[in-house]
Amino acid sequence: MFKNRDVISILDFSDAELEKIFEVSKKMEKTMKKGSSVLKGKILANAFFEPSTRTRLSFETAMHKLGGSVIGFTDIEATSIAKGENLADTIRMLDAYADVIAIRHKVEGAAKLAAEIADAPVINAGDGTKNHPTQAMVDLYTVWKEFGRIDGLNFVLMGDLRYGRAVASFLYALTKFKPRKIYLVSPPLLKPRKELEEHLTKSGVNFEIRENLQDIIQETDVLYVTRIQRERFPDPAEYEKVKGSYRVDLETIKNAKDGMIIMHPLPRVGEIALEVDTHKSARYFQQAANGVPVRMALLYLLLEGEK
Ligand code: NCD
Repeated sequence: MFKNRDVISILDFSDAELEKIFEVSKKMEKTMKKGSSVLKGKILANAFFEPSTRTRLSFETAMHKLGGSVIGFTDIEATSIAKGENLADTIRMLDAYADVIAIRHKVEGAAKLAAEIADAPVINAGDGTKNHPTQAMVDLYTVWKEFGRIDGLNFVLMGDLRYGRAVASFLYALTKFKPRKIYLVSPPLLKPRKELEEHLTKSGVNFEIRENLQDIIQETDVLYVTRIQRERFPDPAEYEKVKGSYRVDLETIKNAKDGMIIMHPLPRVGEIALEVDTHKSARYFQQAANGVPVRMALLYLLLEGEK
């Protein structure tokens, strides 16, 4: 089911497979403390063509915790790509050196192309504005760990629903389950793209597009906030129009129900006030920490299978 599989989109995984990943992740939380050597001799190649902190470092940590090692690059100026080498040739080399490849790229479809070239399993660590499947797994796991389920909860996804691939992937992921309701809150310019909205409609999930959080905060179980993806705007003037247009602070959440959690794929750049960090509902740093056990689970399942 998992061995040697490419991880390109969250939509490639069934709810049962995702539950399996959660269960293995839970076990990995224990393994993480003492370390393990199950992936000894295995190599992960990290091919990061775009900036990353959490995704890359949690992949590295996950591999080390399981006894494997990591090669890769984060600065393409230091590779032969700067000399004009194409993506396919770079991937061919990584395929020869490593047992699994994680790739991040600004162009949608880069991970799929890499998967077609490489024999080793390829993991999409975020490409373009649509797919970031491992982030979606981490996000789902964070909710699952907190509530013991995804079904029946009220979600608010707020922010840049147009260009954010983390939030798009999370939304695609939610269509695999039965959330009670999904509210999409954003300024009109940052509404989800048509393709995503059509997918939501087709999947039958109960969703509604809103511009304001205040009328729905009382019924929210999970408030998922995202940053405006400045670098993905085709026109800087459009960015200026929406810059700073929403922000969550203690005042915003004062009527929230007990037990609500606030998530964010990070990095945040002002859309959650620092004062929220110590509030009981803040889960975004825990969410980032969950990146390690979830990526341990995934690397283990891709390289060793279920056993
Ligand atoms: C995200 C990304 O790169 O898509 N970061 C991440 O992996 N947590 C989100 C972002 O950059 O806003």
